[in-house]
Amino acid sequence: MRTQVCIIGGGPSGLLLSQLLHLNGIETVVLEKHTREYVLQRIRAGVLEHGFAQLMREAQCGERMDRECEIHHGFFIAREGILNRVDLHKYSGGNSVVVYGQTELTRDLCDARARMGGIVVHDAQDVALHDIASDKPFVTYTRDNATYRIDCDYVVGADGFHGISRKSIPASVLQEHEKIYPFGWLGVLSRTKPVSPELIYVKHQRGFALCSMRSQVLSRYYVQVPLTDKEEDWSDDAFWTELKNRLPGEVAARLQTGPAIEKSIAPLRSYVCEPMRYGRLFLAGDAAHIVPPTGARGLNSAASDVYYLFQGLVEHYRTGSERGLETYSQRALARVWKGQRFSWWMTMMLHTFPDAISYDRKLQDTDLDYLFSSDAAMASLAENYVGLPF
Ligand code: APR
Ligand code: PHB
Repeated sequence: MRTQVCIIGGGPSGLLLSQLLHLNGIETVVLEKHTREYVLQRIRAGVLEHGFAQLMREAQCGERMDRECEIHHGFFIAREGILNRVDLHKYSGGNSVVVYGQTELTRDLCDARARMGGIVVHDAQDVALHDIASDKPFVTYTRDNATYRIDCDYVVGADGFHGISRKSIPASVLQEHEKIYPFGWLGVLSRTKPVSPELIYVKHQRGFALCSMRSQVLSRYYVQVPLTDKEEDWSDDAFWTELKNRLPGEVAARLQTGPAIEKSIAPLRSYVCEPMRYGRLFLAGDAAHIVPPTGARGLNSAASDVYYLFQGLVEHYRTGSERGLETYSQRALARVWKGQRFSWWMTMMLHTFPDAISYDRKLQDTDLDYLFSSDAAMASLAENYVGLPF
């Protein structure tokens, strides 16, 4: 088989890029190692920057999102039992965020690809990249005990942090930057009414907590836990009790609890690999960078990668120019690192660090004091949270 762009990974990054390229007459094949059902049962984040939402509309995949999402003009930070509102709309010059589950967004992209005859190969095993430093790269994979080869012009590694693409770049070329945090997030999904119309980020001496949602009947909650904790250590009752212990009293009193329909612990890490291009291979999304979820930047960082790569490939195939592709890595990394900084800052400000000294704790309090006493500080948070321009 031959195609123009072979995309490794059928998650949000790979599917969105495939859809955008298809709409601009560029052929793609997406290779996904899991089944469609497996990909669509993943519970992921749920806050989209307005730029990502616009990209979904440009990809003709925004209809259900616009019908079912919530538009949030702010969120709360709770500290010492008090709710403080961050007015995103006021401080970002009228912008907001779209609350819509990544699971649903991935479903919309999957359905659009199928509707438009896109080639998305699920259950593609043993994907291997070949001759990516040449002008004739190709990709091989196995499925149903047969081996297949795809010759292409370009390969896009959208296969997430644990994918094969980044590992196909020679170690002598790759520069990696990583920071591991000494805690994780225990997340619970419950068919309950969200405790608040807007998200609540909680700074508490017992640990961070977050009240989020997927809809008015589906809530998403998190509590910071030690890295040694396991999901099975936490009964539903234990989770709800701990969450209530960290929430302001008025909020805890109205918290609707119920059975956890999903419960998982995710470690927190910051990671960036440079460059995001090697020969005919381009990395996009989690394949190249990971952020702690505190700033809701994960999927949104992937959006700008997809946007820049989509622009570069369309420019190449339409005009023959290589400029967009040659500047992709530098352009993508410039915005990725701003998202890294914001996610790191929100994480350092709101979590309890087991080995923190008193000076660290005073800085956390000062960060919050400054935030809620300075329009400039609030504007800085707001412009990052709603999404820096692409
Ligand atoms: N071969 C083929 N597919 C692979 C391989 C491989 N070797 N390794 C991983 N994949 C697939 C995974 O099964 C997954 O479906 O690549 C996809 C990568 O998707 P994500 O991990 O979701 O990464 P991305 O598409 O960049 O989305 C970024 O999604 O992970 C969430 O919220 C998270 O911000 C992140 C966002
Ligand atoms: C979520 O709804 O899962 C979510 C929201 C905001 C975050 C992280 C996760 O910062």
